[in-house]
Amino acid sequence: MFNKEVYVSRRDELKKLIKDGVILLFGNNESPNNYPNNAYYPFRQDSSFLYYFGQKRDGLVGVIDVESGKETLIGDDIDIEDIVWYGSVDSIKDMADQVGVANSAPMSELEVIVKEAVAKGRKVHFLPPYRHDTMIQIMDLLGIHPSKQKEAASLELIKAVVKMRSVKSQLEIEELERACAIGYKMHTTAMRLVKPGVTEKYIGGQINGIAQSYGAQVSFGTIFSQHGEIMHGAPSMAELEDGRLVLCDCGAETIEHYCSDNTRTMPVNGKFSSRQLAIYSIVEDCHDLVLKVAKPGVKYFDVHMAVCRLMTERLKAIGLMKGDVDEAVAAGAHAMFLPHGLGHMMGMDVHDMEGLGQIYVGFDEETRPRLDQFGTNALRMGRRLEEGFVVTDEPGIYFIPDLIDEWKAKGHCAEFLNFDKIETYKDFGGIRIEDDVLITADGCRFLGKEIIPYHPKDVEEYMRAARD
Ligand code: GLY
Ligand code: MN
Repeated sequence: MFNKEVYVSRRDELKKLIKDGVILLFGNNESPNNYPNNAYYPFRQDSSFLYYFGQKRDGLVGVIDVESGKETLIGDDIDIEDIVWYGSVDSIKDMADQVGVANSAPMSELEVIVKEAVAKGRKVHFLPPYRHDTMIQIMDLLGIHPSKQKEAASLELIKAVVKMRSVKSQLEIEELERACAIGYKMHTTAMRLVKPGVTEKYIGGQINGIAQSYGAQVSFGTIFSQHGEIMHGAPSMAELEDGRLVLCDCGAETIEHYCSDNTRTMPVNGKFSSRQLAIYSIVEDCHDLVLKVAKPGVKYFDVHMAVCRLMTERLKAIGLMKGDVDEAVAAGAHAMFLPHGLGHMMGMDVHDMEGLGQIYVGFDEETRPRLDQFGTNALRMGRRLEEGFVVTDEPGIYFIPDLIDEWKAKGHCAEFLNFDKIETYKDFGGIRIEDDVLITADGCRFLGKEIIPYHPKDVEEYMRAARD
């Protein structure tokens, strides 16, 4: 946890951003796997609760009365049975003290606070819940059915939290750098282990173990697959095959719950073929373009579109696309190869604050997401960049057999796509290169003191050295 002043000042700022009412920030509860005492491990606290109240235990709720300024940490102290099985933990009062909260109370008090606020006609602010136990808590407290809670969530609170969490402080950047340093070890371990005959699951398990051995956890389910064309392909029991590519997308989440998210794609046999290199170099140049253009004031949507145009130009040069580049991009033809956006915000959640609603996190009044076009509708971040934002830069080129068949059958974007040639790539897989970008005062930089090798010669050299 950071020192208590960090949490005090965050809550003070939040109180200034919310006009009136009572703010409820729900911490998460344990999530049982197959019976209550066998919960999914590790327990993960809610990120907004962590941001303002810092405590990592389950079963807590943070309450802020905006008008009176009174802050209360709500939760039940553990009993002797819990101590016998899990050991002792701090009392709720001690936990409140540690984050500069003056008051603590048992869970039964929450109902009293909320009922009193409702009786006085005061606003009760809560964020959109994403776990069903929290939805039940909200239903019990406020009588709002879970199906209506997303729309009943406080837009004022969502916007305030997004405003604050979007800009990373120096402390947070240091924590993100820590996550990237562990991410580096995860990725380079994978690079050392990749060779024909090893299963995807074996390497996936080693990657996850690296995160844990540094006191971290994975920031999302590790993606490690020779089917790189599946965006979130989980490791399978398939053995790595000579001649294929394997895509590794993984990251660490530090003890303070700050994330990293990187992707590398490498040849199983340690050497890219010329066919693989031709596609790889396009993704590499798209990835590198971001470093040149991303800076405060620039819309990330425009960076995404610049990448789409570069990718289209290059795919045209090797005969996979045709026609006018701008028209092809406007028609969404490039989404055959790049069906997702260039990146997303990253912080305490790997897709930072996605639970609060992407429309509020990645967009604003000026930049509304386009929902009517395949590919463009998957953008997670389009708004103007600000100093302190952290976004991912993750272009990719994928050959998705079912998508190729569907678009060909429909003749979709046929004037921009050379289907006959594209079909010969159905066994190619997919390539993505991803790094995490910090927006600085006058530009941007990759997070991570050591950059995971991604230039083809560096990848090959790293893999070769690991085998010697
Ligand atoms: N790294 C996984 C994702 O960004 O969706
Ligand atoms: Mn990502």
